[in-house]
Amino acid sequence: MANMSNQIFNVQLNKNKQNFECPEHNSILEGGLRHGLAMRYECSNGTCGVCKARLINGDIKKIKHHDYALSADELDNQEFLMCCHAPGSELELEVDLIGDVRSIPVQEIQIKIKNIHFVSDDMAIVSVRTPRSKTLQFMAGQDVELSFKGVVSRYPIASCPCHGMELEFHIRNIKANKFSQLVFSKQIKDKSKLDLTGPKGVFVLKETSTKPMVFIAWDGGFAPIRSLVEHAFSLEMSNPMTFYWAYPASDPAPYFDNHAQSWHAVMDDYHYQTVACEFDRSNENDCHKVAKQIYDSLDHDMVNQSEVYISAPAEVLIYLGEFLLENGLNESQLIASPI
Ligand code: FES
Repeated sequence: MANMSNQIFNVQLNKNKQNFECPEHNSILEGGLRHGLAMRYECSNGTCGVCKARLINGDIKKIKHHDYALSADELDNQEFLMCCHAPGSELELEVDLIGDVRSIPVQEIQIKIKNIHFVSDDMAIVSVRTPRSKTLQFMAGQDVELSFKGVVSRYPIASCPCHGMELEFHIRNIKANKFSQLVFSKQIKDKSKLDLTGPKGVFVLKETSTKPMVFIAWDGGFAPIRSLVEHAFSLEMSNPMTFYWAYPASDPAPYFDNHAQSWHAVMDDYHYQTVACEFDRSNENDCHKVAKQIYDSLDHDMVNQSEVYISAPAEVLIYLGEFLLENGLNESQLIASPI
């Protein structure tokens, strides 16, 4: 009878003072990514050599053949490929994590649509897969450009980097956006191949901050917020978290309300509040009105002590940012991304 035991070992990264648990049958790369660590990798199959690490203490087990050949010096230095090795004991490693979002190269990858789920007449949740040999390296909260037959549009990634090959996008049906028209006319459908270029943008989590976190999204601005929140969960950050989700009062609820509710099960210190906003879509000046309605719904004492992440249209962002800064928020606490 097969031995079904799967021992779990602690892996300590000595440079970054971080650690994670990794089952003995999983690659160390997989274990680290699942725990939200920004590990460098590309192919996940032993070809590129990007996931090199140095073993300081403990035993590793080779679980996959690799074509990439380590030099004699690298082998003498106890270097190995994290995608092809699992822990054989508690480990201490030296790993070069991505410290700065700007150091991630822009990548070009062909992706395939796995599934399109229309949650309403004008909102599609698009799940895609990257090839096994070329996973997208990105940080939670970043954007990419998607292109189909020469039609290009930029979207935030809604999933956490810990999901590896699986990426998710939330696409609103907007008449002036040709890419969204291709999705809603079903010319882009299951199994369609798209070209992805990215990642782009610097809307990322302050992982070392001990302040509470406030997330504010307008409608589809939920996508990068979801990526940030789920990344914070995978990092096991214990900072109190509040999410304000503003949406048009003409809708019954935000389009993924249940998902935002479900985070209560993951974290005790999580508060969720929806903000139904009255506005006239034909009146551009209503961005000010929307920003004021969001601002009036906030717990200002708590917001002023927090890192505040906002994902909203640029005009709403400008007014809301001004209200917050005029009322005591420090500029360094504001992390914003226009959608
Ligand atoms: S990620 Fe390419 S060799 Fe490990």
